[in-house]
Amino acid sequence: MFFCPIGVPSDPRAVLRLAIAGDIHDQWTHQDHELLRWLRPDALLVVGDLSEGRQRIAALLQQVEIPLACVLGNHDSGKDPSGRRLEQQLEMLGERHCGWRLRELRPPGISVVGARPGTAGGGFRVSQAVRSVYGPFNLHESAERIRSAAMAADPALPLVLLAHCGPTGLGSEAADLCGRDWKLPARDWGDLDLALAIHQIQQQRRLALVVFGHMHHALRRGRGERRSFRMDGRGTAYLNAACVPRHGIDQHGRTLHHFSWVEFDAAGRLLAASHRWFGSSGELHYEQTLWTAPPDPDPLPLSASPVPPSDRGDRDPAAAAAALLPRC
Ligand SMILES: [Fe+2]
Repeated sequence: MFFCPIGVPSDPRAVLRLAIAGDIHDQWTHQDHELLRWLRPDALLVVGDLSEGRQRIAALLQQVEIPLACVLGNHDSGKDPSGRRLEQQLEMLGERHCGWRLRELRPPGISVVGARPGTAGGGFRVSQAVRSVYGPFNLHESAERIRSAAMAADPALPLVLLAHCGPTGLGSEAADLCGRDWKLPARDWGDLDLALAIHQIQQQRRLALVVFGHMHHALRRGRGERRSFRMDGRGTAYLNAACVPRHGIDQHGRTLHHFSWVEFDAAGRLLAASHRWFGSSGELHYEQTLWTAPPDPDPLPLSASPVPPSDRGDRDPAAAAAALLPRC
């Protein structure tokens, strides 16, 4: 880990600041609401796995006072194949849940499109609970739901995809953003439908950010920390927010609350991304910087952009999707 105690920074060019709650796993309280009042992000994104199918966290998220978008994860079905537990939370979250649909947050001015709800990663594995709630669908239909929602988004706004598990194509080592670490051999545990949707969206418009969780940062068997950020050759950032547990106490006895944190400028360009651990009153105790935009950028238009060479083209989600999937 490479944390450093610092003050409370925000890029002076930032016009949009997003807090992201990684897999909550029951660790959300009224203290988090108070913390958001101190921090005043423009919106909150929640990547799912709120609990084991209980309603308490969804009820608390109803009380969040800033714009919120959420997608539920595999644990949220609570091992209830009927899907009823999942449905109860969906009802409580209402418009805040954006699985397979567009949620435009105005203010602050951002388009959030949810990926497939309830995913456990691994390519395309669909639980009985999800099928009970949503009915039958295949990989291509799921990808198309994501793509079509993204195409309906206002091209003037930054576009963010919100998923429980990230896309395939981000690497096959255990420490990669979606790498399987709990079983040998390590492999890419990302989702194919999301990768296919990203590939299709990137052909038609700028995609600023894909944010997800599910693959916890701490690797099993004490093998260290997972990589949690990547920028692809098309200027799309990928952020794994799954710091679990997200509440803790440091060596000084201070309570810590984790949020991933991203900031955009007026052109919809990602300025900064980090993991941050705050005290209950908003003090920033630790930060892990993931990305900082260069000071003199060559801004890309939101709706179309030249495609620079990929930095790691063999591990690009779009390239992986194109290689792995049959043509529609
Ligand atoms: Fe999960």
